[in-house]
Amino acid sequence: MPIVKMSELLAKAEKEGYAVGSFSVANMEMVLGVLKAVEETKSPAIIQIAEVRLNHSPLELIGPLMVAAAENCSMPVAVHFDHGKTEEKIRQALEIGFTSVMFDGSHLPFEENATQTAKIKRIAAEYGADCEGEIGCVGGSEDGSEDIAINCTSPDQAAEFHRLTGVDALAVAIGNAHGNYKQTPKLRFDILEQTASKVDVPLVLHGGTGILPDDFRKCISLGIHKINIATATFDRVEQSVRNAYAEENIKGYYDLQSAEVDGAYRNALGHIEIFGCAGKA
Ligand code: 13P
Repeated sequence: MPIVKMSELLAKAEKEGYAVGSFSVANMEMVLGVLKAVEETKSPAIIQIAEVRLNHSPLELIGPLMVAAAENCSMPVAVHFDHGKTEEKIRQALEIGFTSVMFDGSHLPFEENATQTAKIKRIAAEYGADCEGEIGCVGGSEDGSEDIAINCTSPDQAAEFHRLTGVDALAVAIGNAHGNYKQTPKLRFDILEQTASKVDVPLVLHGGTGILPDDFRKCISLGIHKINIATATFDRVEQSVRNAYAEENIKGYYDLQSAEVDGAYRNALGHIEIFGCAGKA
């Protein structure tokens, strides 16, 4: 199946009331594990990598791998550049064939975030790709290097931001944070509901790791149609390898590789079921 655009997947998810999992990957094993779950459950999916991760997984290597994997998958898969910070890397991802990019200007003053996001939206459009923006500020940080405070989205600002930028998907801050939560998150469903009533665009929930299944379902019922999962995948892959060693199942390198694939597969499988996208390809 040809690689698809994020907007295509999210439009169907919005119409049919589910969310598409957007799974961060760092190597081929994670890509294989996620797409195994996607094939098995007949789900749409997004695979993504964030700019801060590129020092571990160079874009010129992992990018073509992600695009090729999406093209080879028999289910609809979009390839997304997560938390883009620089025009240079965003353009590189688009050149490689990513079908969407996020510009994360959430730390910038409103006007500057809107101006820069609108510019990236225009650049993405030149490549026939989609653009995601963020309004408000999701807590933590993508790679755990900073502990950024949560700044909840203002529904009115979200509407103005969408009007100014025309983004295809909008990440909101409703008490969610990247990384493992120190305590169970208390999501502001009231803010999500008000934002969804004012902005006619699929909303995105970042910081998916550690959110309870019922909270995911409630978010989906209130307008979230893309959910980002990163830390849960990395933790599950690591745990899978630890378990395999503890059970003396690793006799050589390829057993180690299988344990990694299996961790990513099981993590994606669980989230796909909760997000309601199984069978929606
Ligand atoms: P987690 O690491 O908390 O799952 O967040 C992922 C994310 O939002 C990536 O953009």
